[in-house]
Amino acid sequence: MLKRTHTCGELRISDVGKTVILNGWVDRIRDLGGILFILLRDRYGITQIVFEPSNIEVYEMAKELGPEYVIGIRGKVRKRPDEAMNPKIPTGEIEVIVDEMEIFSKSKIPPIYVNREDDTSEEMRMRYRYLDLRREGMKKNLLLRHEMAVFVRNFFNERDFVEIETPILTKSTPEGARDFLVPSRLKPGRFYALPQSPQLFKQILMISGFDRYYQLARCFRDEDFRADRQPEFTQVDVEMSFVEREDVLDLAEDLFVELIRKFKGIELEKPFRRFTYVDVMERYGSDKPITVFEHELKDLSDLFKETDFKVFRNVLEKGGVVKGLFVEKKHTRGEIGKLEDELKRKGAKGLVWFILDGGEVRSPVMKFLSESEVRSLLERMETKDRDGTIFMVADEERMHVNELLGILRSKFEKEFAEKEDFLDVFWVIDFPMFEWSEEEGRIVANHHPFTMPNSEDLERYEDDPLKIRALSYDLVVNGYEILSGSIRIHDRKIQEKVFNILGIDEKEAKERFGFFLEALEYGVPPHGGFAIGFDRLVAVIAGERSIRDVIAFPKTTSGVDLMTGAPSEVRKEQLEELGIDVKIGSDDL
Ligand code: AMO
Ligand code: AMP
Repeated sequence: MLKRTHTCGELRISDVGKTVILNGWVDRIRDLGGILFILLRDRYGITQIVFEPSNIEVYEMAKELGPEYVIGIRGKVRKRPDEAMNPKIPTGEIEVIVDEMEIFSKSKIPPIYVNREDDTSEEMRMRYRYLDLRREGMKKNLLLRHEMAVFVRNFFNERDFVEIETPILTKSTPEGARDFLVPSRLKPGRFYALPQSPQLFKQILMISGFDRYYQLARCFRDEDFRADRQPEFTQVDVEMSFVEREDVLDLAEDLFVELIRKFKGIELEKPFRRFTYVDVMERYGSDKPITVFEHELKDLSDLFKETDFKVFRNVLEKGGVVKGLFVEKKHTRGEIGKLEDELKRKGAKGLVWFILDGGEVRSPVMKFLSESEVRSLLERMETKDRDGTIFMVADEERMHVNELLGILRSKFEKEFAEKEDFLDVFWVIDFPMFEWSEEEGRIVANHHPFTMPNSEDLERYEDDPLKIRALSYDLVVNGYEILSGSIRIHDRKIQEKVFNILGIDEKEAKERFGFFLEALEYGVPPHGGFAIGFDRLVAVIAGERSIRDVIAFPKTTSGVDLMTGAPSEVRKEQLEELGIDVKIGSDDL
């Protein structure tokens, strides 16, 4: 075998005259009638190799080569003629004159271009992922992901953290998404759950005395998938003992300062900006806004207390609020109609709008408003004579108004994010401990039930638990929730109170988390931690919108792996062994 002496990214002008062996894939073939140029590619780069007809045997072989053939060549490095220099690639000053070649394997004509970033459908890219991963963009992303993983591990190793693996076949965890289940053959009728995160295990490791833990952990959640969600994904999972919230935030900030410095060349300043949950919702209508897109929601209630416009007046008289959002985009009626329909589906009672166009103000509600009301509206919205649209929503529920305008704002944010290059990093703290789940018709934990509530709130609002804040925090980067964590409960009594509020009785608590509650009785250090969504972090750093572009073998939004065909049906015997009877789609088994 012609074994490589150099990679395809390595040779320079200083290597001229050397005899070398290269291995790689045929990237491009240029037949200049009489002389054959081939670009040979491997992970490290591209080198031009040259077949001259004077070497008849090798030249004839080379004429048979096709794209993506894998070959080995031996030859001499020479300087390219001046007019043939290619400053765009590091090996662009040289080429290798081939005197011997071995064809390791042929390739069919690839169904997607490997050497060109075109708009091949994502379906084809996923189906032929091995070809897609040969492309420059995907290769770069996977190498970046590797470097970031190494960097993260070094960061924690240097600070006395220990990486410990936790089980994949386990019991249901408390993140609140749907579990993936794995049937047990040895205990028919029983199931393992794949972990939604290592949450309970890392807390148990604190109880075991490993006071600083981290893990690049695989997590599994049977959710509806989107561009920033996958059924299996990776967390940088962290837990620490004998700490308070500030200690954890400080460590996370150190990590992000170093990471962003290394991979973006930008110096973040500590401490990071902080918003409380209420603050961020009031100003942006979302708990993960892009704040460099500066348009904020403004409370207009005081301006319309006495208004003749009944819709606003009625809402305000009932103690509700009127808020507005200004954006520098003049909408057409059709566009506004669509936005209004969408908001109505989310529970809005209506959407009032004003178009600002060259000093003129147009709105269907103009006739109900006084001149001074319109003037103070423009002033409060800080329109500063700019053209654009003001949207207004009124409702008795303050948070509902925030959420509705937040839906609008996030659309404009996305348009902004597509055009601009920016880095927007901040904490959101003081999330509510509990929230009302319409779906389940009961109170659920906002983060998870082992999060420590604010102790004063817990005393004060036992009867109004939706007011209780938690010692939890999220780090938002460029509009993505990149990190999420909390201080945990280390006191059995508080844990019981929380279960009480959640309506989890002793029996249910024992069934679901019995092993953990028992562990809480054997000496628990105060502890807390966080998990970083590693795929999202890599995507943000790589400037990719979809986490599928930073995962080697991702799944489609319907949870399918187009390359392997998973999930697939299984043999009847396998099911019988497991004591499982499939009711749907089992006809053709
Ligand atoms: P949480 O559920 O918020 O917290 O998850 C932590 C982070 O993981 C990322 N993430 C995902 N990434 C891709 N696909 C998904 N389906 C997905 N779901 C979540 C997000 C998120 O911020 N055990 C707690 C952490 C803790 O308290 O220490 C947990 O799992 O970026
Ligand atoms: P109506 O009086 O219901 O015809 O509403 C008059 C205008 O006010 C319409 O443009 C509605 O979309 C709008 N509207 C009604 N209710 C609200 C509300 N709660 N918030 C914002 N706009 C509303």
